[in-house]
Amino acid sequence: MKYQVVRNYQYDYLGQSYASMYPNLHRYPATMLPQIGIDILKEFKVSKGILLDPYCGSGSSFASGLECGLTEMEGYDINPLAVLISKVKFTKLSIQRIIETRQIFRNDLYEFLKDESNITKLKRPSVTNIEFWFSKAVISNLCAIKYFIDEIKNEYIRDFFFIPFSETIRECSYTRNSEFKLYRMKSEDILNFNPDVIGVFFKKLEDTIYLYTNFYFPKLAAAKVKVKVYAAAFRPQSKLFDVVLTSPPYGDSRTTVAYGQFSTFSNEWFGIKNARKIDQMLMGGGKSGYIISEGLIADDVTQIAKIDYKRALDVSAFYNDLKYSIQKVAESVNKYGKVIYVVGNRTVKQVLLPTDQFIAEKFEENGFKHLITYERAISNKAMPSKNSPTNECGKTMNTMLYEYIVVCEKIK
Ligand SMILES: C[S@@+](CC[C@H](N)C(=O)[O-])C[C@H]1O[C@@H](n2cnc3c(N)ncnc32)[C@H](O)[C@@H]1O
Repeated sequence: MKYQVVRNYQYDYLGQSYASMYPNLHRYPATMLPQIGIDILKEFKVSKGILLDPYCGSGSSFASGLECGLTEMEGYDINPLAVLISKVKFTKLSIQRIIETRQIFRNDLYEFLKDESNITKLKRPSVTNIEFWFSKAVISNLCAIKYFIDEIKNEYIRDFFFIPFSETIRECSYTRNSEFKLYRMKSEDILNFNPDVIGVFFKKLEDTIYLYTNFYFPKLAAAKVKVKVYAAAFRPQSKLFDVVLTSPPYGDSRTTVAYGQFSTFSNEWFGIKNARKIDQMLMGGGKSGYIISEGLIADDVTQIAKIDYKRALDVSAFYNDLKYSIQKVAESVNKYGKVIYVVGNRTVKQVLLPTDQFIAEKFEENGFKHLITYERAISNKAMPSKNSPTNECGKTMNTMLYEYIVVCEKIK
């Protein structure tokens, strides 16, 4: 049957932002608007069953599920920072307990900071080139905050405090904050950069408490919600899912949207061993020894190979990973279950890669029927919309102006 793409203006959400529904507790690259998930789940009448998000990032699919009455959800992401954000947003915590912990935390921290020699006793984390990215004073204060967060006994409350801590790390480092990738500030800006680390942390803690209390807690309290998030790639289990809602990486994790690089400092400060290697571990981050030669993407990849063979191998690595991931997801869905993938199509070496169609094709090869693909204009996605596909300085091209919502149903 002919692959059907419908331009659907309802899904553009012009002028709406992520924050208008579920403000994020922490910045994250390429987040999905929860509104997309809500409307598509409603359109396909999904209001019960277990939801899976195999690339959950900061967890917008769980917000969508929750709004549509789903209470049991499971997410996977290789990036530990993403898992932390999702976990904190969708775990019901006692606000009273957070407030009490904040009081004890504040007293202990200020008491500790009164004696400067205390700081010298703290262990520094193993952050690569730490003094290139942080001043000595910032390192000391971050170490003190981390020390007292680690002292919090309850795992979930501890994770809650790690959210403002992670934001503070980035804000107080020499990284340019407007970028997702790590770029050091100019030397002249560094000279005048003297952040009040403790002040920044407590301000961010207040913000996190406010957002959690007003936007997440009421929803979590109203329904018995069970969201489990794992820091791993998805693997099939005995359990089957009724709906999959996800926005997978677009194949540019090593170049444009570097999830791992964005999260490096936080992950290193948290003590994650492979923090610097996350982008290589993500989908398409590995190497392929061959160029994809079958399926609808083959011609496009061959065209890229004529211009840049190495790049074609990278592109092949991504589509191979995506294909295997789809196989695993497909076998984990109940009959008549829906899968919804929200994805963008990249341009590499001026060849437009139809990832939406690839996804539909792979699900069809694995017992699904493609129902529809909606095309929506991107207006608010927090990601670069331009790059230099030819790698020629100054030459840019729009990489993604539209996004695709691919819907398939399991029929076998
Ligand atoms: C487009 S983002 C998801 C954003 C998410 N919907 C949100 O709103 O925050 C894609 C995510 O896939 C994750 N990822 C990439 N490869 C993965 C893999 N093989 N297994 C699990 N997660 C992966 C990345 O770390 C990233 O968080």
